Amino acid sequence: MRTAVADHRRYSRPAVYLHWAIFLLVATAYLAIEIRGPKGSDSRIFWTATHLWAGVSVLILSLIRVGWRFYRTPPAPEPDNAILMVLAKATHSLLYIFIITQPILGILMINLGGHPVTLAGLGSFTVVAPHHDAGKVVKWVHETLGNVFYFVIGLHALAALFHQFIKRDNVLRRMW
Ligand code: HEM
Ligand code: HEM
Repeated sequence: MRTAVADHRRYSRPAVYLHWAIFLLVATAYLAIEIRGPKGSDSRIFWTATHLWAGVSVLILSLIRVGWRFYRTPPAPEPDNAILMVLAKATHSLLYIFIITQPILGILMINLGGHPVTLAGLGSFTVVAPHHDAGKVVKWVHETLGNVFYFVIGLHALAALFHQFIKRDNVLRRMW
């Protein structure tokens, strides 16, 4: 399949690996928080730890990904309807903002609430001093963004599937 798209029209291998690794980690962060279970349970401790590990890993890989994007210019967008091209660009920008901002908000939320962020098996860290009122606002933003981005990610994934199965063009193969 790879030979079907010329190299200058596809993302570089590191960009592709980073895209799918970040996707799997974001999906893990969402799954973990959805199934964590009731307060005080072992399940909640395990899945919250998973959420934190997945979220912090998203942040690290996303920073590498943005750095890589500056170093290695991505392929020009495939020509399409002008409105759809603007929509795709806007969605991609929002997704970049999300994968960097959302983990940072998670870290700030925990620290502002008066706790260090603990990465199970590795250790704890604190980046800001406690501030309970600010912590409540950041928690609200983290939860709201988390819920809103189900839809943005869903829209992005649907667009990719639409290209692959309805339009039958090369868009998904660019990122494969
Ligand atoms: C891409 C990464 C992340 C995504 C998609 C994400 C998403 C979410 C979502 C959807 C919720 C639940 C919202 C609700 O209950 O309605 C949540 C809660 C939470 N997140 Fe994240 N998060 C991410 C990264 C992080 C990071 C890096 C941390 C901290 C290091 C973190 C800490 C938390 C905590 C502690 C809660 C539970 C809040 C509570 O119920 O008291 N998250 N996150
Ligand atoms: C957490 C989930 C996801 C995030 C954060 C994400 C993020 C992104 C970003 C930021 C880009 C733009 C890349 C650039 O130009 O530098 C992109 C491109 C792309 N994504 Fe995703 N993505 C996610 C999930 C998915 C899924 C599930 C699919 C497929 C079903 C998908 C398919 C694609 C494709 C095909 C492109 C290339 C589009 C093009 O060049 O026209 N993504 N993604």
